Amino acid sequence: MLTLDKNERLAMWDRVIAGIEDYIDTLPGKPCAMEFGHKELRDKIGSIDFNTPMTPAEAVDFAADALREYQVHVPHPRYYGLFNPAPATASIAADALVAAFNPQLATWHHNPIGCEIERHLIRSIAERFGYSPEETDGSFTSGGAEANHTALLTALVDAFPEYAAGGLRALDSQPVLYASAESHHSISKAARLCGLGAEAVRSVPVDQAFRMIPDELTKQIHRDRAEGLLPFFVVATIGSTNAGVIDPISAIADVARDESLWFHADAAWGGAAVLVPGLRSHLAGIERADSIIFDAHKWLATPMGAGMYFTRHPDILHRTFALSADYMPTGSREIDAADPYERSMQCSRRFIGLKLFLSLLVAGWEGYEKMIRRHVEMGDLLRSRLGASSWAIVNDTPLPLVCFVDDTGPCGDEEPRLKAIADEIVTSGRAWISSTRIGGSKPVLRVCIMNHRTVHDDIEALVHDLNRARDQIGGQNSK
Ligand SMILES: Cc1ncc(COP(=O)(O)O)c(C=O)c1O
Repeated sequence: MLTLDKNERLAMWDRVIAGIEDYIDTLPGKPCAMEFGHKELRDKIGSIDFNTPMTPAEAVDFAADALREYQVHVPHPRYYGLFNPAPATASIAADALVAAFNPQLATWHHNPIGCEIERHLIRSIAERFGYSPEETDGSFTSGGAEANHTALLTALVDAFPEYAAGGLRALDSQPVLYASAESHHSISKAARLCGLGAEAVRSVPVDQAFRMIPDELTKQIHRDRAEGLLPFFVVATIGSTNAGVIDPISAIADVARDESLWFHADAAWGGAAVLVPGLRSHLAGIERADSIIFDAHKWLATPMGAGMYFTRHPDILHRTFALSADYMPTGSREIDAADPYERSMQCSRRFIGLKLFLSLLVAGWEGYEKMIRRHVEMGDLLRSRLGASSWAIVNDTPLPLVCFVDDTGPCGDEEPRLKAIADEIVTSGRAWISSTRIGGSKPVLRVCIMNHRTVHDDIEALVHDLNRARDQIGGQNSK
């Protein structure tokens, strides 16, 4: 039954398309997330018997129904969460094509079209960041975490060429790196994975706006050098996960230049701002970064996972990852095209770039620019509506990520109260928001707008729901 005949295949595809379209059409009227028992879920999956196959139609319906029932619906227009997009239809179609054609992007030889499309995308987007296409290299990754890991590895090899062959024990001392206290945890994870250990990550203090303090960075570098450690890498976060805050890019670039550190920009989400002329100035200085990461599967509305790593050191990926193997097909060298497996962590690799390519073919830069501008407008609308309803905004960012507390009384910024409000919203199913702590200690509610189907009415409804949740919880004495 692995080989279906043509009628069976077409019937199966009809079912898949019907399932996807029904999901998209009905989702706005459905809860963003539903309560369910873990036991019920385990029992449902546990009762599946692979000795009794289903028909293709039954199998597709089972999967689509289960996905409808047992997940947080991140494509929902009122999902205001953690940078998970509603994928654009063109990029969903691209992923289906990729699954069917199964292009192998380990080598240029097996998939010249995929390699050339990805090369073109990497250069085109790097150019938007201000890199010159001739000096740009880069690769698609599974996501931001792999891209940050790639950045750390390339910086290590650049600073300590002996690391590639001899590992950390070939070095004279312990390398250390710098990130703000608000940076993404994948930086620490990458430090562990590189063998540096999480303690090699120096957490640089942030100012009241949660931005890295460049003077503190310099002081920490000098303290570390005085102790005989080896500073080599600093990351500026361009749109922090918690609060969308943009580190002072040029000032950090100056420190990196003065102290001879590799300067990395983690623009996993906020990097999309370079596509909008009015926002580009907030990222001034990013073109000075030695490496940049940016995820299409965040603000560019592609399905997961589609990360990108860019560098303006054209040979560093090769120096970091190249290992040739006799069994791998060759043929790319004579045409000046590099094999992806020699320039990334992955060997067998999915054609990640097609979902961005198809979406760009259909929407164009202009389509993306319009979407991002609309999100920024909705972020401003949300801030103004919240302010008018006695919520206090606590983060400062041009991006549509709003952190706020209840301003109706003295307990409005207490964590249990904010969590109760977020829980009330989530269990109502009317929207999905989260609570977090910024600056390590300040509890806030967090709303991020990045769904291409979200409209102004959704924002008005969210403020209404927040006010209602606050009233239901009560317990504030007026200030
Ligand atoms: C700033 C930042 N960097 C890196 C990542 C990791 O990206 P991914 O989840 O695609 O691995 C995230 C994820 O939210 C992020 O916000």
